[in-house]
Amino acid sequence: MKLAIVGTGYVGLVTAACLAKAGNEVTCIDNNVSKLARIAAGQLPFHEPQLPCLVNEGRAAGRLRFTGSLRDGVQDASIIFLSIGTPSAADGCADTSSLLACVSSLAEMLDHDCLVVVKSTAPVGTCDTLQEIFRSKLRARGTGLHIEVACNPEFLAEGSAVHDFLEPARIVIGTASAQARAMLRQLYTPFDADGKRTLAMELRSAEFAKYACNAMLAARVSMVNELAAIAAQMGADMDAVSSVLRTDPRIGGRYLQPGVGYGGSCLPKDLRALIRMAQDRQEPATLLRSVELVNQRQVRLLFDAIRQYVGDDLGHCRIAVWGLAFKPDTDDIREAPSLILIRMLLDAGAQVSAYDPVANKPVRRVIHDAALNLSDDAYAACDGSDALVVITEWDEFRSPDFSRLTRCLASPAVFDARNLYRREQLAAFGLRHYRIGQAGKA
Ligand code: UGA
Repeated sequence: MKLAIVGTGYVGLVTAACLAKAGNEVTCIDNNVSKLARIAAGQLPFHEPQLPCLVNEGRAAGRLRFTGSLRDGVQDASIIFLSIGTPSAADGCADTSSLLACVSSLAEMLDHDCLVVVKSTAPVGTCDTLQEIFRSKLRARGTGLHIEVACNPEFLAEGSAVHDFLEPARIVIGTASAQARAMLRQLYTPFDADGKRTLAMELRSAEFAKYACNAMLAARVSMVNELAAIAAQMGADMDAVSSVLRTDPRIGGRYLQPGVGYGGSCLPKDLRALIRMAQDRQEPATLLRSVELVNQRQVRLLFDAIRQYVGDDLGHCRIAVWGLAFKPDTDDIREAPSLILIRMLLDAGAQVSAYDPVANKPVRRVIHDAALNLSDDAYAACDGSDALVVITEWDEFRSPDFSRLTRCLASPAVFDARNLYRREQLAAFGLRHYRIGQAGKA
């Protein structure tokens, strides 16, 4: 099929590269032409495993091309995907202005029948609004074109997005007609080997399903974090407790890792938007608001534990931080707990020395503070520091050289915000250990 994808963020680019791999002819469109030039030169705008290779393959096979022109890019496309950013507006709503502007332009320029598929996460009812824009503009143009809007939310997690696309747990298709549903089913057939993963539904259910999934995930993280905080107060070990939770098939074994709270570009933003949508309809969203409150508390708990160890006056302290990205295998630092902690430490007068395998560069762009040093080496970041805080569970932090760490640190304490280590393991090297959800102080 001939496809166009508007927006080359991580959703757009992953979708494009994977659909090209399946044999489709895909044109990526973005109004940021310098970004397109970098992609064409092999420099992807973000870190995502497997993607550079897939993009190169698609380009080499002539199935993946890039253009800055919307008109040129959508020519002859039977399906146009919209994967345009919908950032949080000041009131928590998803800002759909770019999406609406793009659809207005399409309604003025399209000269062939096609399906316009919304991949962006947008408030429930957005597809109806977009369909109405097409209806009124096409009527005004006096054309008899048939342009239908469908919803196909994405469930890609950063760091495993290519895998998630190629082997999806589910493919959600929201449509208003059987014809649109059939087109999308056909497009996704190569990714639905057993034919059981495609879930077809009405537009609004598909739109809401995306918010519901991220709300459930955020709630799960906050639930496990709250249980961990209570466990710590009661002398119970959350890891042991989790091993019990995991064996209950109704609870399931994944997404049970206590930590510093969820971050990233999706869970926090989508939860805010869902709360806003609920409240606009006089639904109190009591539980969802609590999920946010628990999440906000997590970094504060970690900061308090550090202060309890080093003392109230952080002015004389230097704290090392391992991990800046909101999760491993990405350089995304949007709403990353690391940045909130670093800001708290800097505001309290501490010096911070941080290291991340790929996210130093984006942090350098957003924090300009002489008290923050970004190191290219994990151990150099620890040199002379009064404690190490491990915030992102990159593989390279899982089994560090503990004796080297002991020599580097001025004071031997590790604040393990992802529960990567066992207390006895660190004690053997004379390192004090603070874990999430385990009794005792560092
Ligand atoms: C999330 C969803 O997992 C995807 O299904 C969805 O498509 C995506 O949002 C999106 O809406 O685009 P992502 O934000 O990339 O994906 O990352 P997750 O792996 O879900 O992690 C989110 C946050 O929860 C991270 O900060 C992570 O550290 C935290 N988390 C996750 C925990 O603290 N504990 C866990 O057990 C799992």
